[in-house]
Amino acid sequence: MTKIEIGKKAKGIILRDHKVIINTTREIYPLVVEKADGDYIYDVDGNKYIDFSTFISVYNLGYNIKEIKEAIKNQLDLLMHGAFTDFYSELPVRFAERLLELMPNGFGKIFFSNSGTEANEAAIKIAKYFSRRLYIMGFYNSFHGRTRGSLAVTSSKNVQRAHFGPFPDVIHVPYPYCYRCPFKQSYPECGFACIEYIKEYPLKREVSPEEVAAFIVEPIQGEGGYIVPPKDYFKELKRILDDYGILLIDDEVQAGYMRTGKFLALDNFDVTADIYTMAKAIGGGLPLGATIIKRDLGDLPEGAHASTFGGNLLSIAAADAALKYLIDNKREIERGIKQRSSIIMKRLEELKERYEIVGDVRGIGLMIGVEFVKSKKTKEPNVKARDAVLEEAFYNGLVMLPAGESTIRIIPSFNISIDTLNQGLDILEEAVKFADSNYRSDKKA
Ligand SMILES: Cc1ncc(COP(=O)(O)O)c(C=O)c1O
Repeated sequence: MTKIEIGKKAKGIILRDHKVIINTTREIYPLVVEKADGDYIYDVDGNKYIDFSTFISVYNLGYNIKEIKEAIKNQLDLLMHGAFTDFYSELPVRFAERLLELMPNGFGKIFFSNSGTEANEAAIKIAKYFSRRLYIMGFYNSFHGRTRGSLAVTSSKNVQRAHFGPFPDVIHVPYPYCYRCPFKQSYPECGFACIEYIKEYPLKREVSPEEVAAFIVEPIQGEGGYIVPPKDYFKELKRILDDYGILLIDDEVQAGYMRTGKFLALDNFDVTADIYTMAKAIGGGLPLGATIIKRDLGDLPEGAHASTFGGNLLSIAAADAALKYLIDNKREIERGIKQRSSIIMKRLEELKERYEIVGDVRGIGLMIGVEFVKSKKTKEPNVKARDAVLEEAFYNGLVMLPAGESTIRIIPSFNISIDTLNQGLDILEEAVKFADSNYRSDKKA
């Protein structure tokens, strides 16, 4: 396999970037993107990469949906921005009507914003407003965004919170991360020790349940490591919340929009939330956040919440065309996700059998994670192996993203061709083989 070489143009742009752009979360590998087309991302020097990242689960539907591009072009000629939180326009209303048809019965109303963090920010404010309660509960290892309200409930890496606090109105509890159970138990013998903990400790000893406005969840933890709870977990959690009138906020920003094969990832767990948040893929490639609230919660008073670009017409045009495309092609998309998911899972299970560093493989639909360990027995996270897999795969023409401490996410578009998918999995296997022979616990790191 000839390795990709980073060209002069990319190197030059990276140097300039470092002088003028603030540090964020980059530095996995030097990808300077120019375009994406079909199954591939191209960099500025013409290098071509198979895409298992969908630019962080945004291009779920793929890159070449002509209906989305046409809708953007048409709207461009009419108006890009219509101050939708101040004035009326039909497009966001039509999109809201379409979106609500995919939500559980009885929903509701929508607030549009520009990102996942804003969608969660609004959800938290709305929950506090209607309940007149102070506290929000959430999970360790969760990611809900980086503005103050969403950051308060985020708890996946302490660098994300350091020096930005304090966050006095939030209580975190352990997520059902069964591969690394915080209570050192195994499911189902544990009888949901993590649920018992919530009842026995925070809700008895830290805060009165009547003071808790909402519990915010990711149905599958994304940034935290692609962690899938047991099937009945959320039903058990919902039981406690219902007992105390605590609202359930479901953050579908990463796991939603069909990523798991269902429009809402929480539907895999047969539970309905009171407030849903969406972003990433919902904008069809443009920035859009949505906070969707249950009808019987009511409405906010005028002026309590708004955003200049909320309901931006260009974003909504893309989102509406994307959603229409998704609805019109739902059966085929569902079939495609199932087929691709089983190809990936089968291959990853084989890798787990074959290589010591592959500790766990998990996921639903096309939201799949591979967790790397130093040895299967100790399960010690193997960050070096994970990073080596990402890097090796990148230089062999495959783009993937990390998650959690030592996990890689596999989130291709729903229409990636089966041939390309298999080629990508071949590159992944070569990279795992390389990392296994260099970074197993019996090798010197
Ligand atoms: C589950 C979840 N919620 C919220 C966010 C924040 O979204 P944004 O980066 O659009 O603010 C993310 C981003 O990765 C996410 O994965």
